[in-house]
Amino acid sequence: MTDIWRQLEQNHAETADRAILNLFDEDNRIGDFSAETDDILLDVSKTNIDRDALALLVDLAGASGLAEKRDAMFAGEPINSTENRAVLHTALRSQDTTPLIVDGEDVRPGIADTLRRMAAFATGIRAGDITGATGAPFTDVVNIGIGGSDLGPAMATLALVPYHDGPRCHFVSNVDGAHIADTLKTLDPATTLIVIASKTFTTIETMTNAATAIDWLREGVGENTGAHLAAVSTAMDKTAAMGIAPERVFGFADWVGGRYSLWGPVGLPIMLAVGPDDFRAFLSGAHAMDRHFRTAGLARNLPVLMGLVGVWHRNICGHATRAVLPYDQRLSRLPAYLQQLDMESNGKGVSISGRALGHKTGPVVWGEPGTNGQHAFYQLLHQGTEVVPAEFLIAADGHEPHLQAHHDLLKANCLAQSEALMVGRSFDAAMEIAATLGYDGEDQRIQAAHRTFPGNRPSITLAYPKLTPFVLGQIIALYEHRVFVEGVIWGINSFDQWGVELGKELASALLPVVQGADPGTRDASTRQLIKKLSARQGN
Ligand code: F6P
Repeated sequence: MTDIWRQLEQNHAETADRAILNLFDEDNRIGDFSAETDDILLDVSKTNIDRDALALLVDLAGASGLAEKRDAMFAGEPINSTENRAVLHTALRSQDTTPLIVDGEDVRPGIADTLRRMAAFATGIRAGDITGATGAPFTDVVNIGIGGSDLGPAMATLALVPYHDGPRCHFVSNVDGAHIADTLKTLDPATTLIVIASKTFTTIETMTNAATAIDWLREGVGENTGAHLAAVSTAMDKTAAMGIAPERVFGFADWVGGRYSLWGPVGLPIMLAVGPDDFRAFLSGAHAMDRHFRTAGLARNLPVLMGLVGVWHRNICGHATRAVLPYDQRLSRLPAYLQQLDMESNGKGVSISGRALGHKTGPVVWGEPGTNGQHAFYQLLHQGTEVVPAEFLIAADGHEPHLQAHHDLLKANCLAQSEALMVGRSFDAAMEIAATLGYDGEDQRIQAAHRTFPGNRPSITLAYPKLTPFVLGQIIALYEHRVFVEGVIWGINSFDQWGVELGKELASALLPVVQGADPGTRDASTRQLIKKLSARQGN
């Protein structure tokens, strides 16, 4: 592998100043730098990766044991080594019937049974057959969860708004009381179902919000709060302790990571909103991407290609961030969702064997939907001193045929941005523009300098027909596998998250201090902040 890395670096050193645009002189760049499923086109041609570099990147994937590691994941081997767990979120959406054995047991019947129970519950709620304590049907659902127990269902529920025909779904995650207060004040407890989603059922934010919601229910409907509660967790003992009836608890196993969990019970709000059939279509889309990931050759494999482009930008070009820019308003939570998926998975500094890494890992992932971002931070993308690889997403069709003019503008803007990033505008062209605006001499030069675009800024584009449940499933699974591909090449465990622990421990220790206990030997800055916050409390 070292030799491949070296050759990639050499390729980059020799070609860093080359114009991406010139690469289109090569034969069939479009064909060779794109990959497709029936629905999704991934175009990576607007990057400074040439044929030689692409071949080396594919060799890198091969040399990292990607195919073997991918197969080990799908087979249920305990590839999450620090937690000694299998990684089987793919099983939640699988249509395979061959037994899948984990710890001596076939997990497929349990998955199917939970999905059936979820569907029966969702159908009962949606039809008004399952009602609240007063007999009124549920009009609203509040999902209480955080991280993977919030971002996935919140993102997907918003993405699928055109398919909603169930109760309205709301999401409360933050322990900031403002979040639950602002949400509940618009709702009627008699017609509200609270879903408490927590893999561990210990997360302090979720437990605090759940207790507040239960108090709110009690005030509104009396003691029969159980009629308004459901839970999603791997910890059935803890859900019982909260008084949630077992038939309203939807469990999953610890081989489903929190940030990979929306395909199972954590997806209950999605199912309540769109119904079991559309939820199954969402799973089928993801399963189709799983099949593609398992069977397509490395150079034609969407997650592999996307991962290799990520590695090229991060390790060979040294770009520290990447921007996710969905030209799809209903994907406005996708960047936040991908921040957890990507940064919690690949924000690691040691190898699987616990050695400090000699190379960079996960970039900072950020973004906003287009066209909004264009009027905010794209200035930096086009003319800033930091190069940010951009990832565009665009549908051929929206769900509003009567607003075709909007969608045409959306598409034109998306394509214009990737073109502008790549092509830029030369100083000479800017000088001509300045001249037509009436500038000459030094003024013309100054105006031209400000209106010059360096160009040669890389982007990739994902194009899909329409944001249906099936297509959404494919897109999310594509990103999941891309994170896996990058994690394998970086030699890290993408499935643990020890980096979130220290802050949690310190917060528990600081709680009594912010409530008045002695700060002890804490650092001076923290002591000052506690003192000043206490002084301002109640003012
Ligand atoms: O703190 C990080 C984390 O553990 C995430 O990995 C997880 O998605 C989130 O907290 C919520 O955890 P839980 O579902 O157990 O409440």
